[in-house]
Amino acid sequence: MIRRNISILETTKSSLKDFNYDDFVFGVQPTDHLFLSAFKNKKWQNHRIEPFRNLSLSPNTLCLHYGQTVFEGMKAFRQENGAIHIFRPDRHHSRLNKSLDRMSMPQIPKDLFMAAIEELVRLDQQWIPRNKDISLYIRPFVIATEPRLGVKIADEYLFCITCSPMGLYYPKPVQVKIETRFIRAAEGGVGYTKCGGNYGASFYPTQKAKDEGFDQIIWTDATTKKYLEEAGTMNIMAVINNKLVTPPLSNTILDGVTRDSILQIAKDLKIETEIRRIPYEELRSEMKNGNKVELFGVGTAAVISPISRISIEAEDYFPYIEKDAIMFQLKQQLEKIRKGNIPDTHKWNHFI
Ligand SMILES: Cc1ncc(COP(=O)(O)O)c(C=O)c1O
Repeated sequence: MIRRNISILETTKSSLKDFNYDDFVFGVQPTDHLFLSAFKNKKWQNHRIEPFRNLSLSPNTLCLHYGQTVFEGMKAFRQENGAIHIFRPDRHHSRLNKSLDRMSMPQIPKDLFMAAIEELVRLDQQWIPRNKDISLYIRPFVIATEPRLGVKIADEYLFCITCSPMGLYYPKPVQVKIETRFIRAAEGGVGYTKCGGNYGASFYPTQKAKDEGFDQIIWTDATTKKYLEEAGTMNIMAVINNKLVTPPLSNTILDGVTRDSILQIAKDLKIETEIRRIPYEELRSEMKNGNKVELFGVGTAAVISPISRISIEAEDYFPYIEKDAIMFQLKQQLEKIRKGNIPDTHKWNHFI
């Protein structure tokens, strides 16, 4: 079958019946299908959806050596009436293209991106169960596939999309450490992109923090190492004096879709917001003085992840995580929009 220029080959053997929604590790079980498109002779072509399968690549494939890999991460939700929507795919598309541009990779036309995720989610929609807190994580990615050694911008690429069911990412509040030795991104670099290298480079410092009993690190800026940047896969936000504060976008942090949504929701709820740099000294002195400080990460995977302990230069502080915290109000509002319990005034839910 061909729909919207995408040839579709449906699986004859779904793995869904063997999948246990009550006991699974995120990202291990793919859904039944994947989307593929190839960039050759300067254009995207051969768009197809097929039963999920492995890729076959030459050992000399350029992405394996020089890191031209870029990805996105978004979610599809099922509402109580059964309708399915993808959350803000247009923003994920424009961010993907920004990442691709910075990595000298070809951009994906919006109509191709939207048709691909809509058709794929439509085909695998039975993977989003009813009456459970499970969404479908959608992972579009682009890799350089030209088989050739030699440091160069590739001429051939693959655009692929896979999906995987997702429950709660961090089921408990997280414990974090302010990182002042290693850096994630510097001015003029690729910190604002979702290129694979940003994540590979973060594993070593993150593992060191995990060995010390933390879940995540909060990066500081590369120049002064005094200001908060973001956490592993989340933007960082604080509530100080009842005001929602978050660092400004720059070329060193990711322009998070959840960050943008939470800022908008705060405005809708008449919660004061402030976008400015946050020195970790400020957090320390506020908490030292006994003032209430909320600290949390925001991202597609974790949604809002409360921080219950923060280590600042080896001293522990304990941000506010009680039920009446503002972060939970923000989270509930976002969930209500996604579930269709309140009007989606910003038109974030893209129904398929
Ligand atoms: C480094 C980084 N920062 C922030 C985020 C949050 O972005 P979003 O809300 O678009 O998922 C992510 C996740 O995509 C991330 O990987």
